[in-house]
Amino acid sequence: MIGIAILMVSCGKGDWKDATDPAADRAKALLKEMTLEEKVGQMCQYVAPCYVPPGQGSPYKNIDATDENLGNKDLADKIRRGEVGSFLHCMTTKEAIALQDLAKESRLGIPLLIGIDAIHGNALIEGCTIYPTSINLASTFDPELVESIGAETALEMRQKGLYWTFAPNLDVARDARWGRMGETFGEDPFLVSEMGKYSIWGLQGRDRNFDQGHVIACAKHLIAGGEPFGGLNAAPMDLSERQLREIYLPPFVSAIKDAHVGTVMAAHNEVNGIPCHGNSWLLKDLLRDELGFDGFVVSDWMDIERLNAMHHWAPDSTEAFVRSVEAGIDMHMQGDNYFEAVIGAVKSGRIPMKRIDEAAGKILEMKFAVGLFEAPLPSLAPLENAEAHRQTALDAARESIVLLKNNGVLPLFRNGGVASSGGSTASLREAPPLASQSEAPVPPLNVPRVAVVSPSGLTTSANPGNSERSDAGSLRGTPLSPPGGRRGVDGSRQRTLFVVGPNADSQTILGDWAAPQPDSLVITVLEGIRNEFLGAKIDTLCFGGMIANIDAKGIEAARRKAASADICIVVAGENSQRYSAFGRSCGENCDRDDLDLPGMQQELLEAVASAGKPTVLVLMTGRANSLAWAKENVDAILNVWEPGQMGGQAVAEVLSGKVNPSGKLPVTMPRSVGQVPTVYNHKHSQYSRLFATNETGPLWPFGFGLSYSHFVYSKPSMSSGQPSGPGRVHPRSAVAEYGLSPEAAPERSEESGLPEPALDALTTVSINVTNEGPYDGAEVVQLYVRDEYASVTRPVKELKAFKRVFLKAGESAEVTFAITPEMLQCFGADNRWSVEPGEFTILIGSSSADQDLQKLSLTID
Ligand code: BGC
Repeated sequence: MIGIAILMVSCGKGDWKDATDPAADRAKALLKEMTLEEKVGQMCQYVAPCYVPPGQGSPYKNIDATDENLGNKDLADKIRRGEVGSFLHCMTTKEAIALQDLAKESRLGIPLLIGIDAIHGNALIEGCTIYPTSINLASTFDPELVESIGAETALEMRQKGLYWTFAPNLDVARDARWGRMGETFGEDPFLVSEMGKYSIWGLQGRDRNFDQGHVIACAKHLIAGGEPFGGLNAAPMDLSERQLREIYLPPFVSAIKDAHVGTVMAAHNEVNGIPCHGNSWLLKDLLRDELGFDGFVVSDWMDIERLNAMHHWAPDSTEAFVRSVEAGIDMHMQGDNYFEAVIGAVKSGRIPMKRIDEAAGKILEMKFAVGLFEAPLPSLAPLENAEAHRQTALDAARESIVLLKNNGVLPLFRNGGVASSGGSTASLREAPPLASQSEAPVPPLNVPRVAVVSPSGLTTSANPGNSERSDAGSLRGTPLSPPGGRRGVDGSRQRTLFVVGPNADSQTILGDWAAPQPDSLVITVLEGIRNEFLGAKIDTLCFGGMIANIDAKGIEAARRKAASADICIVVAGENSQRYSAFGRSCGENCDRDDLDLPGMQQELLEAVASAGKPTVLVLMTGRANSLAWAKENVDAILNVWEPGQMGGQAVAEVLSGKVNPSGKLPVTMPRSVGQVPTVYNHKHSQYSRLFATNETGPLWPFGFGLSYSHFVYSKPSMSSGQPSGPGRVHPRSAVAEYGLSPEAAPERSEESGLPEPALDALTTVSINVTNEGPYDGAEVVQLYVRDEYASVTRPVKELKAFKRVFLKAGESAEVTFAITPEMLQCFGADNRWSVEPGEFTILIGSSSADQDLQKLSLTID
C-alpha cells in the first residue's frame, strides 16, 4: 500500500507538491484544493511590520508599527489562516524567517512571496551592494553590464529571502521636474527598452528560467507616469494612442515579449480620464490580449484606495477594490479591507469566481516558477560574493560618469595616467589598465583656462564631432604621464584641493531607494579624493551633508578657502535619500518647480568660482538640472548622477585621470525649467518658433558626453548588395541600380496595435571609429533614424541602435548596425504600425546633436 501511494505521488501529474511538474500545472492543482478565502488571500499583500518605524503610525489598522509586530496577533492570525499571500519590504532576514514560519502554520502552508524595491541593487537592505542608480546605468549605454547587475542583485535578494523586486522602472522620463527621473533609464523609448530588457534578463534569467539564482522582476509603472501634468508625481496624463504606443509602451512590449517579465505594476496616474488601476482597456485588452502578458499585475502602494481618495473615480474604497479586480489588478499592495471587499463581491455575484481563479492562479504560478515552495529559509550568514559585487558597482560607476564640460583642467594632475573605463564588461572586471603613453613632462598643476575650441579643431570634416569638445591641444598628442607614472599630486610641490559642498561627504551618493548604510561601506567623493590624491592637502567644507545648512557665513568661508586652494571641487546637486530627516529635494514624491541647484548651492558655486582657481563642479543629482551659469563659468563639469556605494572612488579616479570618462546623457539637459518638457526626439514644429527672451536649445543634448581622448568617425557606408528578406530597403544610390518594385516594399502589419516583429536586416550601416587621443577609452556610437515624410508627423530623429566600443589609444574599430523594418516603422494615420514608403535618413555619430551626426539616405519604394 505504502509503495503504491509513493508511486502515485511521485509520478503524479496534478500534484502541486511535485517539483518536477510545470509551475502552471502545480498552480492549477493547488487552486483546486483552496477555499475562496485562501484564493483571495493570495491576492493580499501587507507591508512587513518592522518596516514602519515605531511611532510613525501604521497606514493600516491593527498594526501598531513596532518591532513587536511580529507577534501582532491580528496579522499573525491572518497569515495562519492563509489570508495573506505576500509581503513587501521585509528589512531583516529575521523578519522574513518569522513571517514564513507563520505561513507554514496555515492549512496549505503556501509560502509568502516577499517583494522589495531592489531598484539599483538590494539597496534597502543594510549591507547589500548599492549599485549606481538607473539613470547612471542608462548613461553607460552598456546593457550587458545592466544584466550582470540584475543577476548579482537577484543573488543578494535570495540570500535575504526576497524573491520579487519591484524593478525595473520602465517609465520614460520626459519631465525633469518629476522627482523620479533618477530611478528610470531616461527619456528615450529605445534606450529604456534595451536597459529594461537586460535588467529583467539579469533578474529573472533569460527566458524566465528562474534557476536557483533568480527572482521575479516587475515592469512598472503601466503607464505614462513619466511626464505627469505639471511635473507632479501621480498627476494626470492625457495622451494620444500614438504617443502611448510610440513613446511609453515600447519598454513594456520588450519586457513582456523579449524578457517575459513575471509581474507588472500599474501606475498612480490616470490616462485619458481613466485611472490606470481601474482601466480594463489597459490591463486586459492591451496588456493581456494584445501583448500576451502571462504573469500577474500588482497595484502600486495603496493606489486602489486612491481610486476613491485621490482620483474621485470610485465612490468609496469598497467599490474601488472591486473595480480594480474587474479591471485586471491581481494583487493589492497593501493593507486591510481589500480581502473582505473582494470576498463580498464574489459572494454577491459581482466578481465571477473565474476572475479570482485567474488572479490567484497567476500568483501561485509565479511562486512555483521562482522556486518558492522548494526554497530554503533565508540565510543569516553574511552575503556571498559581496566583494565581487562591489567591484561591479565600481565598474558601473566608472562607466556612468558623464563629462559635460572640460576646458582642459581635467584630468587634474597630469602625472596619473588615464585608464580606460572599459569596453566590455569582461575587461572592466579587471583593474583599469594605464594607457600606453610615451614619456612626457608633467604639465603644471594650474592648467591655464582655455577657451572651448570649435569642433573643427578635433574632428574630420566628415564628422564635426562634439561641439563641446575640450581643447584639442591640451589632450591631443600630449601624453599626461609616463607609463606607470605615480598617481597623485605632482611631486614638485604640495597642492591644495578644496572639496566643498553638501554632497561631498554624504550618503546622498546612494540615491533614492537606498537605506542608510554603515559609513564603512560607502565611499563618498571626499573619501575617494583622499584615497586617490595621496599626498595632496585636502581642505573641506561639507555643511554636514545637508543642502539646508548652507548659509551666508558658510559661503564666505568657502570663498576664503577657495582663494587659498589650488583646485576647487564643488560637489553639489540634489538629495534623493528617502530616509533623510529633512532636506530631500529629489526622488519619489519630491517634484520641483525649478531645476536650478536647490538651496544656496548656486551662491556657493559662484563664491568658490570667484576665487579664480580652477573649479570643477561634480553634479550629484537624480534629475536633469539647469546649469546655464555653471556651463559658462566653471572649468569642468562632471555629471555623476547618484553613483552608489563605490561612487566616490569612481569620481576621484575620473578627476585624477585614472579613468577616462565615457558616460553619455540618457536625457536632455534643459537650460531652464521653462524649457521642459524638452526631449531630443521632438517633432519638427517644436522649435519653429523660438523663445523671445532666452536661448531655445537645451544646454546639453541627449547622448552627449566628453572623453579625455577623442574619437574620429570615418564616413559611414551603407551596404548596397542584393536585398534579402521580405522587406526591401536600400540606400538611395542602390535603388536605381536594382529598380525595386513597389511590391517589394515591406508588408503592412495586419495587427493593429503591435509593431511588426523584427525581420532580417534589410541593409547594414558601417562606420569606422578611431581613438585619436592619447588615452584608451570607450565611445558610444549612436544610430538615429528620421522618417522624412509619412502619413503622420514624425520626430526629427529617433535612437534605434547604439554600440559601446572600447578603443586603445590609436586603435580603430568598424561598427556595423543592421537596419531592420522595425527601426523604420511608425504608428501611422490609420492607427497601425507599418513602414511607409518614402525617404529615411540614417544619422550616425557621437550624440543626438546634429553637428555630431553624419547622414545617409535610404528610400523605400
Ligand atoms: C512606488 C512604487 C514602489 C512601491 C513600493 C510606491 O510608492 O510608486 O514604485 O514599488 O511604492 O515601495
